Amino acid sequence: MTNEGYSTRLLTASTWNDFATLVEANNGVWGGCWCMGFHVEQFTGSTGPADNRARKLAHVSNETCHQVLVYESDECVGWCQYGTPAEIAGIKNAKAYLKELDFLPDWRIGCIFTGNGHRGGGVARTAVASALEAIRDAGGGFVEAYPEQADERPTQRGAYFQTGPESLYAQFGFERVRRIAKWRWVMRARL
Ligand SMILES: CC(C)(COP(=O)(O)OP(=O)(O)OC[C@H]1O[C@@H](n2cnc3c(N)ncnc32)[C@H](O)[C@@H]1OP(=O)(O)O)[C@@H](O)C(=O)NCCC(=O)NCCS
Repeated sequence: MTNEGYSTRLLTASTWNDFATLVEANNGVWGGCWCMGFHVEQFTGSTGPADNRARKLAHVSNETCHQVLVYESDECVGWCQYGTPAEIAGIKNAKAYLKELDFLPDWRIGCIFTGNGHRGGGVARTAVASALEAIRDAGGGFVEAYPEQADERPTQRGAYFQTGPESLYAQFGFERVRRIAKWRWVMRARL
C-alpha cells in the first residue's frame, strides 16, 4: 500500500480481468486502442478494438510486456507501461526522436492511463513510482519517458496527456534531454 492509499500489481494473466474492467469502463481507452499504441506492432493490420484486445491479451499471456496496475481497494484504477526499447518500440514522434539520438536507454516508460473519476489523486504518480521500483529491481540503468510539457501553454485536460505530463516525471528526477515535438520532450533519469 502506498502513502496515497493505493496498491499496485503487475499486469499478468491473473490480473488481466482487472485491467480489462478498467479499459471497458473507459470505452476501450481512446475508443478501443486497448493501450496497444506503444507495442512493437502498434495497430498494423488491426481490424479494430476486439483485435486490439486480443493482441494485448496475447502480450500478457506470453509475458512479452511489463505493465503496472494501480488499485484502490480491489478496483483497478490505473495502468502504466514500461519496458526495454525493443518492447516499447512504438513511441510517438519516432522520426524526430531518431534524428538526434545519442544512445538508446535501458528502459522506457510508454503510455499511462488513469480511469475517469480517479484522476488528480496520485494514481499516475503511484503507477510511475511502481514502474521505477520494478526497473530498479531489474538492475536499473537509464530510463526515458516522453511526456508533454504543460507549462507555458493553455491548461490541458488530462485526457490529452497520453504519455503523462512533464511535471509527473520531474517529481521522480527525470530531466529534459531534447524536444521531439512542439510540446513533447525526451526526459531521462538514471536509476
Ligand atoms: C495524465 C493522467 C495519466 C494523469 O493521471 P492522474 O492519476 O490524474 O495523475 P496524478 O494525480 O498522479 O498527478 C501526478 C502529477 O501529474 C501532473 N498532472 C496530472 N494531471 C495533470 C494535468 N491535467 N495537467 C497538468 N499536470 C497534471 C501534476 O504534476 C501531478 O502532480 P501534483 O498532484 O503534485 O500537482 C490522466 O489524466 C490520464 O490518464 N489521462 C488520459 C491519458 C490517456 O489517454 N492515456 C492512454 C494513452 S493510450
